[in-house]
Amino acid sequence: MDAKQLGDDLTEVLHTEAELRDRLAELAREIERDYAEQPPLLVGVLKGAVMVMADLARELNFHAQMDWMAVSSYGAGTKSSGVVRILKDLDSDITGRDVLIVEDIIDSGLTLSWLKENLQSRGAKSVRICTMLRKPKALKVEIDVEYVGFDIPVEFVVGYGLDYAEDYRNLRDVAILAPHVYSGE
Ligand code: XMP
Ligand code: MG
Repeated sequence: MDAKQLGDDLTEVLHTEAELRDRLAELAREIERDYAEQPPLLVGVLKGAVMVMADLARELNFHAQMDWMAVSSYGAGTKSSGVVRILKDLDSDITGRDVLIVEDIIDSGLTLSWLKENLQSRGAKSVRICTMLRKPKALKVEIDVEYVGFDIPVEFVVGYGLDYAEDYRNLRDVAILAPHVYSGE
């Protein structure tokens, strides 16, 4: 779905499909260099990271094994609760493996810092993070992120996997959601 089909639901397109694709290709080259010895296991965080994972994995010029977790820190709304629940766990044993977490967005950082520690505690050899988007001014915890697509302002964004109440994930671009859409919250 294209931004122009969504009328006044969106206030601004932050990054177009083409920009996202080009930036992801740059990140893939960095990842290939950093993991030249041994490809990492890509761990996608459902559901938001589905688009990033699909595009990143195909861009990488090595065997990209994928696994998935579903965690929840948000309800249907737009605010982080800080409470993380595992809704779906990994299928694979990550003991001794290099793990690259693939995420759509880092907002407060609470979800990712929890997830990183959780994966480290299972005996992963290394755990790094790749996120398409990050809101630096919204961070509440310090967290090292090795691969960042774009830093964005503190606005609620949708598209490229990111939803509001499960809608807008299939928007091709990343755009700011108009406040009137969620002002009834
Ligand atoms: P934290 O605050 O833990 O949040 O870093 C990470 C998760 O929160 C969701 N999130 C968003 N989803 N638009 C969305 O559609 C946003 O602007 C946004 N900010 C945070 C997302 O699921 C992410 O994994
Ligand atoms: Mg997410």
